[in-house]
Amino acid sequence: MQQIQYKIKERTSQVNLPETLGFGKLFTDHLFEMDYTPEKGWHNPSIQPVDGLLMHPATMFIHYGQAVFEGMKAFKQENGDVVTFRADKHIERLNNSSRRICIPEVDKDFVLDALKELINIERDWIPAKRGESLYIRPFIYGTDPFLGVRPAKNYKLIILLSPVGAYYPEGFKPVKILVTDEYVRAVRKGLGECKTPANYAASLLAGEDAVKKGFTQVLWLDGVEQKYVEEVGTMNIFIQLKDEIVTPKLNGSILPGITRRTVIELLKEWNMNIAEREITIDEVTDAYDKGNLVGVFGTGTAAIISSVGWLQYKDKQMTLNDGKAGELDIKLFDEITSIHYGLKEDTHNWIIPVEQKETVS
Ligand code: COI
Repeated sequence: MQQIQYKIKERTSQVNLPETLGFGKLFTDHLFEMDYTPEKGWHNPSIQPVDGLLMHPATMFIHYGQAVFEGMKAFKQENGDVVTFRADKHIERLNNSSRRICIPEVDKDFVLDALKELINIERDWIPAKRGESLYIRPFIYGTDPFLGVRPAKNYKLIILLSPVGAYYPEGFKPVKILVTDEYVRAVRKGLGECKTPANYAASLLAGEDAVKKGFTQVLWLDGVEQKYVEEVGTMNIFIQLKDEIVTPKLNGSILPGITRRTVIELLKEWNMNIAEREITIDEVTDAYDKGNLVGVFGTGTAAIISSVGWLQYKDKQMTLNDGKAGELDIKLFDEITSIHYGLKEDTHNWIIPVEQKETVS
């Protein structure tokens, strides 16, 4: 196993976190970095101060988007313990995304250990308030300075840490979602299930249009017929009908969310009728008209559980639970965040502890 090189900055003052954190605006002092070359494989792991990235203007990923990323979280629990939530599954998904776009996979155990080392060094940056956490953003990108279209030969992995609160400007209040049939995010056999910047680039214009119309985000339909519900782009979606809870079946164009998986596992445990199946937007509007639509919520690492208070498809406006969070959404949010903060026993082994230790630099 390779030795991590440490270059630790002397902390001259205490970490003071702002009262409201928002999402992705603040970064800790250090990052983890590692390089890949065909000769050495992944090598040169280091933890060092966050600094600018100096890169050649021909760096391949800038031009052709060969990059993958992850989003996971660490929490400070009630008793002061620091833990991550299903970080192993996130690193597994990072490798799945990498395979799809010809990026070499990382050693999962090594990256998990490196991540724990980094979090341990930055533990003072982890907020302790419920709803707040340390967001972890690993990403890998092709670094060759070359303008031909082919997979890069050389890569960099960086893990960046950011103390965060709620993802949406609404906080944890219900969001307004616009179903778009004007744009598509991804098509089957494309990159939809891969956490790569292209999917987010594909979503920007639709997202901006939705915001201009007063919505928080867009609900995507399938890329071929624009008939089946897929995902929100930063969240997977769950439709609660009177006798069944439905989340779209993974079909290659939907991101296999870790929170999605967590919610499915919880609902099964609670003996609720959860189905992973295709669901058309017409089925959703019909259920609304017939009074069978109990609620809609999104799941994601950044958003956790986010109730949808309003859903619009073409000129059909649907108000759910009078624009308030649904009962099931609240129950799921409470259950998952209680496990995050150590208020409920983790019977599923979702929690991965980050041991406190002195770092030898
Ligand atoms: C996450 O939930 O971590 C996401 O990936 C959303 C992110 C793009 C902000």
